[in-house]
Amino acid sequence: MFGKLLDYKVKGQEVQLYFEHKEAKIEVLSNKIIRVFAAYQGEGVNSCAIEEEKKEACHVEVAREGEALVIRTDAVMIQVWDGFFVDFYDARGRLLSKQYRGERTPLCVIPDSLRAFMEQEGHTFDIGDGRDYKIQQVRELEDGDCIYGLGDKTGVLNKRYYEYEMWNTDNPDPHEDHFKALYKSIPFFITLKKNACYGIFFDNHNKTYFDMGKESEDYYVFGSEGGNLEFYFFAGDNMKEIIAEYTSLTGRMPLPQLWTLGYHQSRWGYETEEEIRYIAENLRSHDIPCDSIHFDIDYMDGYRVFTWNKETYKDSKQALADLTAMGFKPVAIIDPGVKKEDGYYVYDEGRENGYFATDAEGNEYVNTVWPGESVFPDFGRKEVRDWWGKKHQFLLDQGVRGVWNDMNEPASFNGPLPDDVVFYDEDRRADHAEMHNVYGHNMAKATYEGLKELDKRRPFVITRACYSGSQKYAVGWTGDNQSLWTHLRLAVVQLCNCGMSGFPFIGTDIGGFGSDTTKELLTRWVQVGCFSPLFRNHCAKGRASQEPWVFDEETLRIYRKFVKLRYRLLPYFYDVCRETALTGIPMIRPLVLEYEKDENVRNLNDEFMVGDHLLVAPVLEQGQRKKLVYLPEGVWYDYWTKEQIMGGGYHIADAPLDGCPLYVKQGVILPMYQEMDYVSEKKDEVLFLEAYGANTRYVHYQDNGEDFGFEAGEYNEYEFQVEDGQLKTSMLHEGYTRYGRIELKKIY
Ligand code: GLC
Repeated sequence: MFGKLLDYKVKGQEVQLYFEHKEAKIEVLSNKIIRVFAAYQGEGVNSCAIEEEKKEACHVEVAREGEALVIRTDAVMIQVWDGFFVDFYDARGRLLSKQYRGERTPLCVIPDSLRAFMEQEGHTFDIGDGRDYKIQQVRELEDGDCIYGLGDKTGVLNKRYYEYEMWNTDNPDPHEDHFKALYKSIPFFITLKKNACYGIFFDNHNKTYFDMGKESEDYYVFGSEGGNLEFYFFAGDNMKEIIAEYTSLTGRMPLPQLWTLGYHQSRWGYETEEEIRYIAENLRSHDIPCDSIHFDIDYMDGYRVFTWNKETYKDSKQALADLTAMGFKPVAIIDPGVKKEDGYYVYDEGRENGYFATDAEGNEYVNTVWPGESVFPDFGRKEVRDWWGKKHQFLLDQGVRGVWNDMNEPASFNGPLPDDVVFYDEDRRADHAEMHNVYGHNMAKATYEGLKELDKRRPFVITRACYSGSQKYAVGWTGDNQSLWTHLRLAVVQLCNCGMSGFPFIGTDIGGFGSDTTKELLTRWVQVGCFSPLFRNHCAKGRASQEPWVFDEETLRIYRKFVKLRYRLLPYFYDVCRETALTGIPMIRPLVLEYEKDENVRNLNDEFMVGDHLLVAPVLEQGQRKKLVYLPEGVWYDYWTKEQIMGGGYHIADAPLDGCPLYVKQGVILPMYQEMDYVSEKKDEVLFLEAYGANTRYVHYQDNGEDFGFEAGEYNEYEFQVEDGQLKTSMLHEGYTRYGRIELKKIY
């Protein structure tokens, strides 16, 4: 479709390409980040993910070499050929990614007659049918290539051989491996080759399609029917570098408040003030540390957002003040659907100002969600986001400390919204088909910016739907999972791949949201949950309760043990979090991110790391009491027995019901808190240090865990060194009250 490359023009780091039938562009954003662009829709489309111009001055050479136009930076060589075929090599000329030149080979073409016959019994067809998209890239795959990222998709860690779609989807059925889409759209992936790696971010928020080698062993395909051909190619020495580059463009998770890393108790169905108080009292009386109780839609008056039910709450402000006095930080849900009702202040304000989406004729678009007939704020517009952001004053006045955005795919009770509902992309009229995948992103942005303006603390926003870049505004959870062992296994994969996709602060509903948990499943789930960034037990209305005390003494004891472990490890989590905020490298990592040269970890679906020193090998099977654990090269310590184990192979670990195989890599000094009920209680009193190895070094970060004072230098950075049994502490930065006491507890 592009035809011959006739001419080109170099403008700084941009190369304009003139093909026979179409123009295109290659832009060098840095030595290792290359933007590839061809307009199909036009230039005025907002990325949504990339919000600031990101360009580093670097050396670029452009020359015709035979048939190809060759663009060189210090790190990559790009060849552009007729037909706008673009190939990437590293500076040494080693192939990174080549566009596929051959014919596509559809897996199977199903004749209509057979299709109709099969459909009678409910069969559906989702095999690669070789369909070409208007905008498309077909790129080569080599033997052994593995693919990671793509957000919250189901299945296994390595996405090679599978097919996905980016279309934020709320599907209440049990999430299964063949699902193509879930709530989040993160069109970014990393290809790990035998001896190299690269990343691609297809920045197109229309519905996009990814066949990662299901159709063919030889290539993968991504494409769309809308938007532009616009993708970023990331070269790097390793996958961490690729993630750092991708997040340098799309933004990084800001440092969160420390308490958000604590334990959260939630359920849909805590209907009254009495129930919430009962939960709070039981958490404390059962000695389960907890920092937050979540208020699901039950707290609202008739599911009207920014209201509080006066019948079920005698005095909501007093109730929240009492919870706050007990150390809980209330988090309240806010859905996008605004009840269509004259006289309801949010609806009236939005309608008067024209803030809601309309149908193609300009009439308010109405669909059904929790409050009944509802309208949808058009978050793509700045004035709507500003208005929505300010609405949160209502929640802050109630005593709320965090906001949970749900149903923001946007979901409705009548299936997907029609494609032609009018949504804006800032001041350009667009439609639902184009803005669907960024609706949740823009809602989270409105919420984050509103809270930041109204409150001095670091905003805590949780979102269900997101797009690339949402990590700047919100943390997430994986939506409505179920109390199934398969979903516990899926949790590990989703946590890891969300991290690999630049969206690091994520959790799953512990115990499972839908269906009814068992005590064994809940017990194994808390052992994964206590290492997840967002550590929340949540459950659906009408399902069996799953608070830690509802089963028996043993379940409660084990649950408590793991929540307490999380609280003891909070300083380590916070350090890892800071690393994530600074570099984009996720808190939770598949082992392949730390040990990418090790072939044994490329398809490892049931272990993960927290930071680079803690390895978790959770039990994900019912009845299992031993676990086959792979430990990469190096010296490891069993966290429980302190036994030293040489890595570089498999070993069988004991995994009784109250034990989750956990390993510490030699060389770390694990910082730990004393026991506490909630973080602000005693966080700065004492810091314990456990040194794993005779000579170790560790940099530890401390601040007030709440506001933005750290940006003005109000933080401490300690360098701890243990040498020959002696602890040496030096301050790399001092700007905050030091711990009351620092104690070297043990050296192993
Ligand atoms: C959605 C959410 C779930 C929530 C429920 C009621 O299903 O995913 O977490 O509890 O709505 O608000």
